[in-house]
Amino acid sequence: MPIIAVINRKGGSGKSTLSTHLAAWLARQGLAVMLGDVDRQQSTRVWLKRRTDSLPTIVPWAIDQKNVLKVPTGVTHVVLDTPGGIHGFELARVIMSADAVVMPLCNSLFDRDSAAQCLEELKSLPRISSGRCKLAIVGMRIDARTRAALALAEWSQEHSVPFLGSLRETQLYVRSLENGHTVFDLAEKLAATDLQQWAPILEWLRPIAKLPPVQPMSMAQTDPPVAIAVPNLAPPRQDSQPASRPPSLRPAQEPLIAGGRLGSTGANRMDQLFEVMPAQHSVGILERPSIPGFLLRH
Ligand SMILES: Nc1ncnc2c1ncn2[C@@H]1O[C@H](COP(=O)(O)OP(=O)(O)OP(=O)(O)O)[C@@H](O)[C@H]1O
Ligand SMILES: [Mg+2]
Repeated sequence: MPIIAVINRKGGSGKSTLSTHLAAWLARQGLAVMLGDVDRQQSTRVWLKRRTDSLPTIVPWAIDQKNVLKVPTGVTHVVLDTPGGIHGFELARVIMSADAVVMPLCNSLFDRDSAAQCLEELKSLPRISSGRCKLAIVGMRIDARTRAALALAEWSQEHSVPFLGSLRETQLYVRSLENGHTVFDLAEKLAATDLQQWAPILEWLRPIAKLPPVQPMSMAQTDPPVAIAVPNLAPPRQDSQPASRPPSLRPAQEPLIAGGRLGSTGANRMDQLFEVMPAQHSVGILERPSIPGFLLRH
């Protein structure tokens, strides 16, 4: 199961923005995606709650530091958001199961310095040094009118890490996330510049996500995008409302609703997911202190 972790020690570098986008993109490819939130702030959970059922399904989960959790049945791809400052045992634990680490990086002295330290630690981990877990950098909030993108590309080269490309600074990210959207959910006309910036990043991720090479003109949109996404922010979905089967559900996402996991029982969709976890799948941290079961391969 491909697991993509988004990591940077620096707070506010764009980890949650990047991870929500990666999960949304994978979901748009028809994959059964789980967005795991290692971050105690649980930013991606907040975002997921705002996501309407008309959008491709992403299953929420959180790695509980005390209880070991398993990936829900049917999930085939995992994206992990991580907290700022992650290092040592916590970092090693995430990398132990990751197939790729994507590091968002802003172009400032402080950001680069912090990233250099983080890269050093990442490269010292066997799974990364052996190439089993790929590592790459994405420039975040980069003003195309400046030399910033080039500077980051050069910096990445100096540190022997692939530089996949840059995402510009735009309120499109801020405002679409407010509504549980990503730029992949917006009308193509509105997000054309940004979709273009994502292209090389997604190309790098395709083999890791076990996706076939890109078809011309079908890079981002496989479902009809929402018509007016940014200006007309719909109210967040009420948790008390029964979750219904999203019309955009793909065949690979079918198992996510099997057994009433996302069925209409009147309960919160996320609560249902936690409820249906069989007891025998929960292994206490004292029994298995090294890796959460969530991250174990099955
Ligand atoms: N490309 C962008 N353009 C404009 N704003 C952006 C962009 N990317 C991220 N932001 C904004 O920057 C802020 C920090 O982003 P984000 O929350 O993704 O960072 P983070 O690394 O997850 O932070 P933390 O370390 O606190 O978890 C947010 O307000 C987000 O909306
Ligand atoms: Mg975050």
